[in-house]
Amino acid sequence: MFDYERLEAVSLEGEAPQSEPERQYYFMKKCREWAKEETKRTGHPLTMSIQTLGCQMNAKDSEKMTAILAYIGYEEVEEPVADFVLYNTCTVRENANLKIYGRLGYLKNHKKKNSHMKIALCGCMMQEPDEVERIRKSYPFVDLVFGTHNIYKLAEFLYTQIESERRVMDVWDEAKEIVEDLPGKRKYSFKTGVNIMYGCNNFCSYCIVPYVRGRERSREPEDILAEIRGLVADGVVEVMLLGQNVNSYGKTLEKPVSFARLLRQVNEIEGLERIRFMTSHPKDLSDELIEAMADCDKVCAHLHLPLQSGSSEILKKMNRKYTKESYLDLVARIRRKLPDISLTTDIIVGFPGETEGDFADTLDVVRQVRFDSAYTFIYSRRTGTPAAAMENQVPEEVVKERFNRLLHEIQGISAEITDSRVGETVSVLLEEVNAQDSSLITGRLSNNAVVHCPGDKSRIGQIVQVKLLESRGFYYMGEMVEE
Ligand code: 5AD
Ligand code: SF4
Repeated sequence: MFDYERLEAVSLEGEAPQSEPERQYYFMKKCREWAKEETKRTGHPLTMSIQTLGCQMNAKDSEKMTAILAYIGYEEVEEPVADFVLYNTCTVRENANLKIYGRLGYLKNHKKKNSHMKIALCGCMMQEPDEVERIRKSYPFVDLVFGTHNIYKLAEFLYTQIESERRVMDVWDEAKEIVEDLPGKRKYSFKTGVNIMYGCNNFCSYCIVPYVRGRERSREPEDILAEIRGLVADGVVEVMLLGQNVNSYGKTLEKPVSFARLLRQVNEIEGLERIRFMTSHPKDLSDELIEAMADCDKVCAHLHLPLQSGSSEILKKMNRKYTKESYLDLVARIRRKLPDISLTTDIIVGFPGETEGDFADTLDVVRQVRFDSAYTFIYSRRTGTPAAAMENQVPEEVVKERFNRLLHEIQGISAEITDSRVGETVSVLLEEVNAQDSSLITGRLSNNAVVHCPGDKSRIGQIVQVKLLESRGFYYMGEMVEE
């Protein structure tokens, strides 16, 4: 749990401390004083709207920034307009960028009515110099711009902006230190993501992540374990260990530690019930990890193993460092030790040069592995990545047609797998009230599948036994069984 006493102990007399996290504590307190005055002036509590695009990493970063702003005095609202609007951006595919510019147009009109409104942009898209330049030139009403490496400085940026009344743009090319001991505010009280490492060294040829999230850096195991123990003491029962490729966790530490070893240590934490992790690259998933997953009772029966393509030729061009055969062999090794595991994946359709034969290989792997579910993506050309410069970009109509065929195949298999478990009674973590029908509670099985069952919201956060009554393609309807 975050130590607010340590924060309160930082003095506001004199200059800001140079060392972190004290420096940020100082600015958080400074901003809090300002927010009190601002609340008096406006006669209402300050509000914040945090919009998060993209992956689990961004979700985690947003939790950290929400906590900083909450301490300062902002109350979170669901609406897209507030006194402080923060967009934590994604840039993995081009659509995400276009969405941001659309939102900015909308916010501009609101800012005309409320000039005190603050608009901030951060995250992966801000690590792209061309995008930052565009914001600098054409979006002067944006007050704060920062990247992925310095989100912990949010309070400092805000204070600088308030004092100078000018916009603050600060994007770092690479990460400096990993700053520990900042507050976090969880979306769910009972589950959360925990960063175990940052960055990516893999340079898959289509992917922009290594350019915007920098090189791999691992957190010390003691810091990770202490954080999880604190979370468990605060009511968390499920953690998702986060890294772009958790298989390379710990390699760059002074005292190297394997991910399998870390998993075993996390499994020892009393009171913790479920462990998930994301993502594991097929090129270096070790037998040691498979063993650890089999031995650790808290590790969920789910593995996300991005395939990207089933064609060895395309995988080579993607710089994925495995082949169709070695992927299938890995799946066989995993299933031998973990027969009940659910496998999910990511697949890109229409990578440059993808032929009908290459696509047939992807369909073949999908049929052989029988993934429980898959995220399918149309290849998006990201400027600056090697694939963007490749010849033979696949025409849009061809890609769309392949995409639909793939989706059809995946959905059919997914429904068959879901159907096959109807009648079983399984452990479910109850997570939230169903958005469409408030008499239902939505929960997740160990394998990450979703089930809706009648129940009271007081049970949210508990792990209960649920009988799976009916399959609806990719989720279940069920009923709680009293133990
Ligand atoms: N185009 C399409 N999909 C992509 N992904 C990453 N980069 C691209 C791109 N340029 C997908 C990959 C990855 C997931 C997070 O996003 O499948 O696993
Ligand atoms: Fe991108 Fe590949 Fe790194 Fe995943 S492993 S973040 S796909 S470069």
